[in-house]
Amino acid sequence: MRTHKIAAIPGDGIGQEVIPAGLAVLRALTERAGDFRLDVTEFPWGSDYYRANGRMMPEDGLDQLKRFDAIYFGAVGDPHLPDDLTLWGLRLAICQGFDQFANIRPTRVLPGLESPLRGLAPGAIDWVIVRENSEGEYAGHGGRAHRGHAIEVATETSIFTRAGVERIMRAAFAIAASRPRKLLTVVTKSNAQRHGMVFWDEVAAKVAEDFPEVRWEKELVDAMAARMVRKPAGIDTVVATNLHADILSDLAGALAGSLGVAPTANLDPTRQYPSMFEPIHGSAFDIMGQGVANPIATFWTACMMLEHLGEGAGARRLMRAIEAATAQGVLTADLGGTARMDDVTEAVIAAIRGDN
Ligand code: NAI
Ligand code: MG
Repeated sequence: MRTHKIAAIPGDGIGQEVIPAGLAVLRALTERAGDFRLDVTEFPWGSDYYRANGRMMPEDGLDQLKRFDAIYFGAVGDPHLPDDLTLWGLRLAICQGFDQFANIRPTRVLPGLESPLRGLAPGAIDWVIVRENSEGEYAGHGGRAHRGHAIEVATETSIFTRAGVERIMRAAFAIAASRPRKLLTVVTKSNAQRHGMVFWDEVAAKVAEDFPEVRWEKELVDAMAARMVRKPAGIDTVVATNLHADILSDLAGALAGSLGVAPTANLDPTRQYPSMFEPIHGSAFDIMGQGVANPIATFWTACMMLEHLGEGAGARRLMRAIEAATAQGVLTADLGGTARMDDVTEAVIAAIRGDN
């Protein structure tokens, strides 16, 4: 039997609720499929671990994770700790340590869900946003000086390297080429940011030569935000920088009904390191511990994980089960429903068991 080793890191807040739900769904799936198994190890890393040990994960955390085939991640963030400490201490430490440079964010309006966009035609939103995940605005390059003085200064420098831009463009063109419409929108702000973003456009044009089957176009990020709302049907695959795609993909999640359904994959496409799969949302302080978090994003990202592990049939079966549950109207409060997280989990498990 095929076996995949999974490191599960629930992290903080609702991460501690949705990851166990995701693991329960995956157990039901492997029982139903019968031809592969997941060997799951859980790691109690995050803010509680920080309070006990002064670090978000052990010093050899990355070494421990290296031997896994994939990482299934919840969220980080604690109301009593600075967000940059928790994010850089765990999630970004893994993304950067494992060079997970391609952040893939699919968006669709699942059956039974309603987009906040009025009169949206079915299927009008079917996007994949490809986010550069290793450099750009989140490279961590900058500093502060003269703290507390009137002359205090802070810089946050965006980094765009040829290697970094070229590899994300290749990943984005390849994804666009794999989809029926073969359309890629390259997002920049190359009118105002005239160094890094002009470079980004130049690299896109060069990589495009290797993908003659893909139609590609350029769009400025502000115009892209408006277009996602006004003309969503004309969009397919989108590639953008770390910051721009971060913002556009939250918008995409909201347009699909809720941040609670939006999944993401942090990929090392070279497969030198394990890739990491997570919901887009954070630890959601306002609803944590109440059992009302929407687990759909965490289930959907499990589909992406299975796809990455070569379990395409399992991924499709899980997606069918998720869509069966949403179509039945088993929805949490963020989607206007009254279901609790466990109700959604049970509905998806029942759909897996009934799937043939
Ligand atoms: P958030 O995503 O945690 O929450 C934003 C809003 O969406 C909240 O009202 C929340 O209740 C709602 N929401 C999010 N996920 C939901 C779900 N599954 N079901 C139902 N409602 C859901 O973002 P926020 O509030 O900006 O950040 C909270 C903490 O999470 C911060 O510490 C932040 O740094 C961290 N964070 C971590 C991320 C990660 O680990 N990948 C990503 C984003 C934020
Ligand atoms: Mg974000």
